[in-house]
Amino acid sequence: MGLSTIKSTSEHEDQMFRLLRQVDQSPEASQRVMAAAIGVSLGRLNGLLKQATEGGLVEITARNGPDKRARNAYAITPRGQAEKERLTTQFLHRKFAEYDALHAELTGAASGHTPLNNRTKLMEHNLAPIPELYVSYDSAQKLKVEAGELVSHDLTPRQICDLELLMNGGFNPLKGFLSEEDYNGVLDNMRLADGTLWPMPINLDVSEDFAASLEIGQDIALRDQEGVILATMTVTDRWEPNKSREAEKVFGADDDAHPSVNYLHNQAGKIYLGGPVTGIQQPVHYDFRARRDTPNELRAYFRKMGWRKVVAFQTRNPLHRAHQELTFRAAREAQANLLIHPVVGLTKPGDVDHFTRVRCYEAVLDKYPQSTTSMSLLNLAMRMGGPREAVWHGLIRKNHGCTHFIVGRDHAGPGKNSKGEDFYGPYDAQDLFREHEAEMGIEMVDFKHMVWVDERAQYEAIDEIEDKDNVTILNISGTELRRRLQEGLEIPEWFSFPEVVKELRRTRPPRSKQGFTVFFTGFSGSGKSTIANALMVKLMEMGGRPVTLLDGDIVRKNLSSELGFSKEHRDLNIRRIGYVASEITKNGGIAICAPIAPYATTRRAVREDVENFGAFVEVHVATSIEECERRDRKGLYKLAREGKIKEFTGISDPYDVPEDPELRVETENVAVDNCAHQVILKLESMGLIAAE
Ligand code: PPS
Repeated sequence: MGLSTIKSTSEHEDQMFRLLRQVDQSPEASQRVMAAAIGVSLGRLNGLLKQATEGGLVEITARNGPDKRARNAYAITPRGQAEKERLTTQFLHRKFAEYDALHAELTGAASGHTPLNNRTKLMEHNLAPIPELYVSYDSAQKLKVEAGELVSHDLTPRQICDLELLMNGGFNPLKGFLSEEDYNGVLDNMRLADGTLWPMPINLDVSEDFAASLEIGQDIALRDQEGVILATMTVTDRWEPNKSREAEKVFGADDDAHPSVNYLHNQAGKIYLGGPVTGIQQPVHYDFRARRDTPNELRAYFRKMGWRKVVAFQTRNPLHRAHQELTFRAAREAQANLLIHPVVGLTKPGDVDHFTRVRCYEAVLDKYPQSTTSMSLLNLAMRMGGPREAVWHGLIRKNHGCTHFIVGRDHAGPGKNSKGEDFYGPYDAQDLFREHEAEMGIEMVDFKHMVWVDERAQYEAIDEIEDKDNVTILNISGTELRRRLQEGLEIPEWFSFPEVVKELRRTRPPRSKQGFTVFFTGFSGSGKSTIANALMVKLMEMGGRPVTLLDGDIVRKNLSSELGFSKEHRDLNIRRIGYVASEITKNGGIAICAPIAPYATTRRAVREDVENFGAFVEVHVATSIEECERRDRKGLYKLAREGKIKEFTGISDPYDVPEDPELRVETENVAVDNCAHQVILKLESMGLIAAE
């Protein structure tokens, strides 16, 4: 469309908007009054009225009266009202844009040498509003009622994060969950079917049963975990993905040591649904509301502040002095304002929780010049996908109105693979970003590794220090920091800010004061319960923390009485134990669990749940199946051999021997007391109980 066509279309729409407003306010006015109010000739008014009546926006009725020039009465129709609303929004948008351009011109926020036309274009590029998937407030109220009748899907925490960014434009240009064609394109060459760059598959994964109950073309309601309808989705695609292929393509390896590959295989539903989303309302957040911004809210903020260049800093960790120095440097290098943009959705299992982090960020924010730096929280579910994730993060920040993005060493790295090696090279993320930078429309500022030079009492980029051999270079790694926090050791002033350290110590007391879980696993009759009981008594004797025993039999009686011994039921049983243990651990208690827990994947899932809050100590009670059968205390092995008990662990059902437990205890010819003491020694060596 040429520029003149755009102009005349908008002029025409402005006139139509004025006409509808006029008819709405003064339906009885004569044509002459109307034409004057709108600012058009009588001829033009007639043309507009004709179009409005033909389009069903306005109704004309005859009116009796002496004045021939006022013989018609006009009434706006409901359709006309809706059109008026649409045109009002459009009119306001344009006026705001014009106002902003004028503001920039007058305040000099834009360079005085650039012609106005270009400046307006630049503003449109990164600061003009971007499309969202929400319908208007009125339509949302209506749609919400209608959607109550639809089949609904309860979103997982990760899906809620994805949906929020889909709806608010954070994942622009996506219009919903990926179709199969888009998904394949993203996997194969990081592009949607239409060729647009998009590195991360965003799918609605569901169970086989739910998927089978749907028809293609059907609308479904998407609900949050409390049952609130956030959106509807038209299901256009349904397919069973090859998850190993997805893992290889997106994360570079089909290795469960990668948190997202593990999620893919062990948590995500088997079937993917794709289709456009219609947004009804944002997910509700009760925490840090004032710090959460949609892309359009951030764009509006940057416009208001006159920030034309903004460099974003992505983080999932607390900020220390080195981070502050590098963000300062990045802002200086890019000649830009700074946006600290931490992720508060889902990060890497084991990270510092976002409540603590945000309190830390707020403390650090005071150390930045207020007028140049801002902080906003991003409800993103990270995938720890290294290079692809860096490109994804860049696109998301571009949608949030940023012009520059900091990419560090090992950006969004998932840690080590199952062979103990890094999944990605330290600069793979920077390389992939650089390759696509021009197309992405956001520039990379590469992260310098900052270290403390003691003699000069300042942070410097390691690659820029020329007198390395003559100065003392200091650095504290993330692992070392965790160790110092866990053991209550000193954290020097040069490393962090006292306010940050205080916050971290508050939520991460030394290990000997944290909650933890001891998880016994082994065959029936291996001695798990006996050792667990002895351990409980010993820990209670020491005092200090409450101790809860979740023995296999106790749990089956009180929490899982309806469950049997199929794989599905055993998994459910163990997940329940894991849930209770993680709650106990979170609240500073000691949970001792003693189920058979025969499957390695379920034990791993429980470990992850617990490790969010404290240590998980897996103890394999390694009594052989032969010995358990010989003891046969409950007479169950005999029944199992006779086929009277089905799916009996070790006889007719598998047991995955733990490969790498914190402790393995042999019980044959060893007294129970000794076994329990071995566990105590292990807990001491891990710093979980303080050696007296
Ligand atoms: S699981 O697999 O972890 O859910 O099992 P768990 O909850 O620990 O329950 C095991 C106890 O149930 C009795 N029992 C069986 N065990 C294994 N397989 C089958 N089919 C089975 N049927 C009943 C058995 O007494 C176990 O008790 P423990 O305390 O382990 O001896």
